[in-house]
Amino acid sequence: MKKRIGILTGGGDVQVLNTVIASAKKASERLGFKLFGSIKGWEGILKGSFIDLTNLAIDPGIGGTVLKSSRINIAKTKDGPERILNNLNQNKIEALIVLGGEDTLSNAFILKEFPSVLISKTIDNDVGRFDNTDNHINKITNYFTLGFPTAAEKIVSLVSLKEGLRTTAYSHERILIVESMGMHAGWLALSSALGHPDLIIIPEFPLNYEHFRECVLSKYASQGHLIIVVAEGARWEDGSHFYTEIDENENFYHPRFGGSAQILKNRLKNDIANFLNPRNINSVNPSYLYRSGAPNKIDHYWAQKFGEKAVEILSAGLEKPTFLFIQRENAAFYIKDFPLSNYGSIADLHRFVGKYFYDPDEFKITENGKNYLREIIREIPLDRSYGIKKEIDNEIY
Ligand code: F6P
Repeated sequence: MKKRIGILTGGGDVQVLNTVIASAKKASERLGFKLFGSIKGWEGILKGSFIDLTNLAIDPGIGGTVLKSSRINIAKTKDGPERILNNLNQNKIEALIVLGGEDTLSNAFILKEFPSVLISKTIDNDVGRFDNTDNHINKITNYFTLGFPTAAEKIVSLVSLKEGLRTTAYSHERILIVESMGMHAGWLALSSALGHPDLIIIPEFPLNYEHFRECVLSKYASQGHLIIVVAEGARWEDGSHFYTEIDENENFYHPRFGGSAQILKNRLKNDIANFLNPRNINSVNPSYLYRSGAPNKIDHYWAQKFGEKAVEILSAGLEKPTFLFIQRENAAFYIKDFPLSNYGSIADLHRFVGKYFYDPDEFKITENGKNYLREIIREIPLDRSYGIKKEIDNEIY
């Protein structure tokens, strides 16, 4: 009988989950395995609900996940580890491929010994770490998480002049506040920098509101319009979030985010009513659009590689759980395995934006931040000639 591998997708979806599944399926056929999908992430394994993927056509270029998703904390589920191991055993699943963010992957630390390949995917880009104190970009364990390049490219496009909101901000002399996803880590908001927004606010650096308000006023005075990007998990100076809701069913204790741009808009509206018509401050929240749609080229390429590599590593006889991370060396990316036993818990892999990448006084990205991002997403040049030119002296209004 062919060796049976299980695959699952958990947490917030990204555009390349089907790409990884389709590629793992192809590699399984080539290497003599049978691939089974667990329906709805870890929940499928808890319930013993698997589907044989052999005769299922999977479109690798479409977002979402054919296997569906859930957020399950095995540690908080009654008899969780025992039920998982029993069901894997009963279904003769000998190894697992787990695609998830910090929550989904954290379950692997509870199962510990089961042979699993762990692949990080999240538009939050917050799984990985820096191997030295200055966060040098060549020393990043896991340069990016799958899904981040596509979402980052979306936010870049959204705030840019050529493809996004700057034209309407200019035309109506508005302040537009764009919300990005990112509960605890500001990577997605930071990445918008390559589309040249004016100010960026991320969760890692609580907002000095008075200083921010002054920046808004002085920038608006010089440009006549503004684009501000704010992460959903942004915080006030006392550490409290701009906006959260408690979700009773969430067994990872995450509050629900989404609404920070609107909160900031309302506060600014009050405070600068003397300088600006309140109608001229607005907020935009693309929300799930960041996670939806088709993958971009870099995401698609690496998702295929991850799917392939996961099965190859199992075929070579993997016995213990291991992460597959994307490394960069000599200006090239490659995938490398890092045993789970290298880490105490998922917290050891939680990655935040630091001052190497972001300047909290100016609310903007650093040159190092730009260099990091330019390796994975395209920068849209800011066309400074936008506006009405005086033919005589070329002055731009
Ligand atoms: O998976 C990460 C993420 O995209 C966060 O940025 C966001 O807060 C969260 O998912 C929301 O996901 P959901 O609404 O599906 O729980």
